[in-house]
Amino acid sequence: MRKPLRKAVLPVAGLGTRFLPATKATAKEMLPVVDKPLIQYAIEEARAAGIEQFCMVTGRGKTALVEHFDVAYELEATLRERDKTDALAALKGTQTEPGSIVTVRQQVPLGLGHAIWCARAFIGDDPFAILLPDDLVLSDTPCLRQLADAYMETGGNVVAVTEVPREHTNRYGILATGKDDGRLVEVKGLVEKPAPKDAPSNLSIIGRYVLMPEVIGHLAKMERGAGNEVQLTDGMAKLIGHQPFHGLRYEGRRFDCGDKIGYLEAQIAFALKRPELADAVRAFLKTYS
Ligand code: G1P
Repeated sequence: MRKPLRKAVLPVAGLGTRFLPATKATAKEMLPVVDKPLIQYAIEEARAAGIEQFCMVTGRGKTALVEHFDVAYELEATLRERDKTDALAALKGTQTEPGSIVTVRQQVPLGLGHAIWCARAFIGDDPFAILLPDDLVLSDTPCLRQLADAYMETGGNVVAVTEVPREHTNRYGILATGKDDGRLVEVKGLVEKPAPKDAPSNLSIIGRYVLMPEVIGHLAKMERGAGNEVQLTDGMAKLIGHQPFHGLRYEGRRFDCGDKIGYLEAQIAFALKRPELADAVRAFLKTYS
């Protein structure tokens, strides 16, 4: 019997320096792709995977993220008064079960591993998912749903992985691989941001994880890794050999929205998926250069 996956941690304390000035007074996770902020894509994807409880690891200047999922009484009353049913319907995805979102603060930016450790009381003894809202995945089955299904098959830890060009291994957590059936790959080792010449493979982790709570004990040691930060990858590496650990080659396309090009590509790809926008966007792309 696997413990059901019901909790997700969303690290959202980052400064978003790559998107300044846009992120000077707003959270980078509030940047929209078409008309929906990145954080909402992440929450909706998690819900589609059966997640019921959310913990945002926030920081200063991130209040909009919490506001976004609150009831906006004046706005809703005004829209109702004016019979703006479409606009009201657009707010649907922002409605959450009372008490389903909690926040903790990461007071100092000591790394992703430290951010996850900050959510330790929320995690308790349960398996949990992590979604990095910067990574947006366009797929038929939501990416975290695919991971949750894989977790039910294998138990233990499962991370979403994809092949990257060798010269990009220094941007990601990279797997040393064992048995590989083309979909699920056994994780034998994990290295954070290795130089191409030191990388054990070109299979990289994207921002979707299902992890066992034991990772917290390893993160608690606060050992510094790549970039002198407490790395989640290093904490996860300590679980290998003690618990099942797999990489899942998910179906879908990932957009790195923490990067300008990735973000722009996501705008186009997600707009092309919208029936009311697709033709106009396609026509524009054909004529504009
Ligand atoms: C983080 C992780 C890295 C992972 C990446 C996915 O890096 O540390 O292992 O591959 O997310 O997006 P960051 O993007 O925060 O530098």
